[in-house]
Amino acid sequence: MIKVDFNIDKVRKDFPILSREIYKRPLVYFDNAATNQKPVQVLNRMDLYYENQNSNIHRGVHFLSQEATSAYEEARETIKTFINAHSRSEVVFTKGTTDAINLVAHSLGRKLLKAGDEILITFMEHHSNIVPWQMVCETTGAYLKVCNITEKGEIDIEDFKTKLSRKTRIVALNHVSNTLGTINPVKEIIKITHDAGALVLIDGAQAVAHLQVDVQDLDCDFYCFSGHKIYAPMGTGVLYGKEDILDKMPPYQGGGEMIAMVSFEKTTYNELPFKFEAGTPNVGGALGLEAAIKYVNGFGLATLAGYEDDLLKYGTEKLLQIEGLRIYGESALKTGVISFNLNKVHSYDAGTLIDKFGIAVRTGHLCTQPLVGFFGVPGFIRASFAMYNTKQEIDKLVEAVIKTREMLL
Ligand code: ALA
Repeated sequence: MIKVDFNIDKVRKDFPILSREIYKRPLVYFDNAATNQKPVQVLNRMDLYYENQNSNIHRGVHFLSQEATSAYEEARETIKTFINAHSRSEVVFTKGTTDAINLVAHSLGRKLLKAGDEILITFMEHHSNIVPWQMVCETTGAYLKVCNITEKGEIDIEDFKTKLSRKTRIVALNHVSNTLGTINPVKEIIKITHDAGALVLIDGAQAVAHLQVDVQDLDCDFYCFSGHKIYAPMGTGVLYGKEDILDKMPPYQGGGEMIAMVSFEKTTYNELPFKFEAGTPNVGGALGLEAAIKYVNGFGLATLAGYEDDLLKYGTEKLLQIEGLRIYGESALKTGVISFNLNKVHSYDAGTLIDKFGIAVRTGHLCTQPLVGFFGVPGFIRASFAMYNTKQEIDKLVEAVIKTREMLL
């Protein structure tokens, strides 16, 4: 592991929003699994684009258009290297993870899936990795099957093997659960799935800011992630897909850069990855995403993961000392996500009071209603950590939860 000088005070200065006060208290931002904050390096890159380079890409012969096109394609190259894709053709820019999953589901639904086929997901999926598949099942007559999880919040591998069948066409699961923080054994699952002859899509929304992702080593067929969960702007994201598979898939949306030739009789489509990039893309956002990746790479994901793991252990230990507090998601392999409840206190009531201490946590079903149902509660209170959080902030959360408990119980 490369040893990097990780200076938390210096890191925090890179994130302007952290100097805000909320209700006259310094902001404590623990809603990082929903979206994390953006460093000046990312904000400056986007400003530079809009102040100096703004132009539509792949369209103009003029200087600015060519400069913006080169910058956009360099960003694609940076992403290719970041996830170790084999080629730039395998990196499709999207609006985010949800957009990427919808692209795959709807494109496969047009060609590969038919009545009686099966799609296998898990009980711990985000709605974005449930609903697109349900929509495709409705149009194709395919079936959605759901693999069980354990009380600790891990995938039940035996159940997975039982539910994987000769009819399974695609398995779709998250790398890291947004609600439980569980790091799933995706490499093992990909191998089992490929042995059964099906494709695998990994929802990496909660993974890329915390784990080094190597798509070739994982051997996944698709990997999706959002920029805004890795310190980059909202409205940016990536679909990685193996070239030979993407090649066979029909386009998802029509218009703009995805065409080769258009006539009223017949339209032919552009080569990869442009075939899947209809319309004017979010060029400034892509450059912000590139800047975010460079920022994260400056520390090394292993350094960041080690730091956040320390926060996770500290937070878990401290919160568990509070009477009546239960943590959901007890896997030994977790990222910095702690979802909890306080006896019978409703998560919204707790979240509203915790907010008054200037602390941002997420509350409710966390876009995982079936998972919340599995644990038999209406919702959770979730604290999720990023590279700029500190143990002192966790102490403030613990104090706020103790006071909340005193007020509501
Ligand atoms: N998926 C995001 C979350 O977990 C919005 O909060």
